[in-house]
Amino acid sequence: MKALKETKRPGSARTAPRPPLALLRQASPSSPVKLAPKPRLALSRVPEHPDSVIPQVSPPRALLKAARDVAANAYAPYSGFRVGAAVETSDGRTFVGANMENASYGLTMCAEVGALQAASSAGALGKIRRIAVVGGPMKPAAGYKPKATAPCGRCRQLISEAAMHGGHEIEVWFADLDRKVVQRRTSSELLPDAFDATNLK
Ligand code: THU
Repeated sequence: MKALKETKRPGSARTAPRPPLALLRQASPSSPVKLAPKPRLALSRVPEHPDSVIPQVSPPRALLKAARDVAANAYAPYSGFRVGAAVETSDGRTFVGANMENASYGLTMCAEVGALQAASSAGALGKIRRIAVVGGPMKPAAGYKPKATAPCGRCRQLISEAAMHGGHEIEVWFADLDRKVVQRRTSSELLPDAFDATNLK
């Protein structure tokens, strides 16, 4: 049988493409390509809780507590992980939500979805200034180390939409259930270069 002549194809092992990041870095100085800025907020630890990370802006304690309180109502029999979210509007209203799971796992509703939906239904989607999210296991395993529950990718997109609609950043505070580890980010830090309404124009 005649041996097939080996040809180089783009993307084959012989012509391995450079990683996209390397290509971006090589872009000419006039190129419009921008890399996402690094989050600027410095975090510091406090001695009484070796695990705690205290942001330099003081955390919204009442909002985090509202998120913790509603987390008690989480319906999470499959993951055993409860999450609570509380959003605060510029006119002082608070809307809350807890995660709600489903035997058809993919239908699970995140806590943030409930809180954002409640605010939106009250006509306050564009007035959201801050959101607090707390989460953690219902039955922590031995040696469990508290960790801040960061919003999932879909929830980041939903928060970004609210920010875009309101015309300003939303502060996102996230923590473990006991609020020992608290982190703060802005909506655009959590989802830089978001797909939004401007893409549709
Ligand atoms: N969960 C939330 O409620 N929000 C998030 O941003 C991350 C995940 C819930 C979904 C599911 O019920 C459980 O946490 C475990 O993934």
